[in-house]
Parts: sequence; structure tokens; C-alpha cells
Amino acid sequence: MRAPDSDLPLQFDRIEYRAGNRSILDIGSLTISNGAPTAVIGPNGAGKTTLLRLGMGLLEPGAGRITWGRRQHAAPVRRAFLFQRPVMLMRSAAGNIDYALASVKTPRGERKRKIAELLALVGLSGFEDRPARRLSGGEQQRLALARSLARDPEILLLDEPTASLDPAAAKSVEDVLRAVANRGVKIVLSTHDLGTARRLAGDVILLHRGRIVEHSASETFFKQPKTEEARRFQAGDLLI
Ligand SMILES: Nc1ncnc2c1ncn2[C@@H]1O[C@H](COP(=O)(O)OP(=O)(O)OP(=O)(O)O)[C@@H](O)[C@H]1O
Ligand SMILES: [Mg+2]
Repeated sequence: MRAPDSDLPLQFDRIEYRAGNRSILDIGSLTISNGAPTAVIGPNGAGKTTLLRLGMGLLEPGAGRITWGRRQHAAPVRRAFLFQRPVMLMRSAAGNIDYALASVKTPRGERKRKIAELLALVGLSGFEDRPARRLSGGEQQRLALARSLARDPEILLLDEPTASLDPAAAKSVEDVLRAVANRGVKIVLSTHDLGTARRLAGDVILLHRGRIVEHSASETFFKQPKTEEARRFQAGDLLI
């Protein structure tokens, strides 16, 4: 069997996304390659979710080109998307992962081992038989992560994975993301939490009004931001 095509790099080229006559996103060029996580930050309505959805191929740009591994319209075989509020199936935790494994045609005989491995990775060993919808918000977020990893993605796009979690739950999601990144999965996440971005990201993209105003290495972004917007955003002073 031929190795599946790669979804990396993910490239945006002169992308415009409009809703009616309103421009929601307008970015020149952006390349996302393998490496440490990329954090997308910016005020409410800046276009973070839109950018991630375009990156997954859930939205079509009005103009420009998006390519995955230099292919346009590539089927989402090696990428996964984690929604801000993941919806669990009315099954056990193991059942939710089993469903995802079955959907990518993992042989039945391998699924039990993979379920145990994925639950261990997200810190939910022993939760196999728990009804997924009864898990806490943080546990559901980690189960959703395990479910999306069942697809063995190269790129994992996450929309505010730590929103509405308390600091301890957010931290355990961050720990899982770090472990996933260390396995070689490229993580792209949007977040309102500058602490999460600082702890996790290798590079930071600041969106403002649908445009990328700064894209820097994390260290530069936080220590020596190049733009006035980045300084103001970090001071809590850039609201729309
Ligand atoms: N289909 C649509 N029709 C009309 N407006 C839209 C549509 N999709 C997004 N928008 C608008 O585009 C802007 C960007 O939305 P988006 O959800 O990408 O922002 P965001 O940065 O994720 O915001 P938040 O931090 O609140 O999640 C918002 O003003 C939103 O209302
Ligand atoms: Mg959003």
C-alpha cells in the first residue's frame, strides 16, 4: 500500500473570506510546517475560528488558495479539528474512541489496544466504561482529543481547547497537547489565554480584524513584540 499523502505544510496564499459584503479574513501568505505548536490569538471576532476552519477545509475561501502538502482540495485524511465544545456520542468513553477508530477502518482486533493507549495518553486510563456525556468539561475535552488522535493526524487544529476550563483542567489539557506535539503532531490552536500560548507555542500569530498583524517566534512575541497591536494586546488593551 502506498503511504498516504502528507497534509503538511499547510499553506494559505492570498486568502480572503467574506460573509456577504463583509471581509472576515484577509491574509497574504501563511505557512504552517511541522514543529512546535502554533498559537493563534486575538480579540473576539478577530477571525481565529474562521482561520482554523479554513485550515481544516471546513470553509472555502472566497479568493486565494489553501494547500495541504502542496495539494489543493486535499481530503482531510491526515488532519483533525477539535471544536470548542466537543459533542460526545451517547456511549462510553471507550465507545466514543472506538467509533472514531472504526471510521478510519482500524481493524477490530487492534481497537481495544489503541483505545487503552489513547486514553492513557490523555490521562483517562480507567475511564473506559464511563458514560462520555457525564464526564466533566476538562475530561470531555481530553476525551475529544483522544478521539481526534484516533485518526492519526499530522495536523491537529484546536479551537480554544482550554476555554471554560479551570486552571488545573486547562493545565492538564496543555500537558496532553505537549505530549501530542512531542509525538510529532503539528498543533495549531486558538486561545484567549496568553499563558497557554506562552507555555505551549513555538510561534504566535496575532490576528486583528481579520488580518495577521504579527507572526513571531513565541519568545520574540512575548519579550520584544514588533507591533503596537501586540504590545497593546498583551497589556489587555486591544479589545476589538
Ligand atoms: N458565516 C458568517 N456570517 C457572518 N459573519 C460571520 C460568519 N462567520 C464569521 N463571522 C464574523 O466574522 C468575525 C470573525 O469570526 P470568528 O468566529 O472567526 O472570530 P474569533 O476570532 O474566533 O472570535 P472569538 O474570540 O469570539 O471566538 C466575527 O465578527 C463573526 O461575527
Ligand atoms: Mg472563535
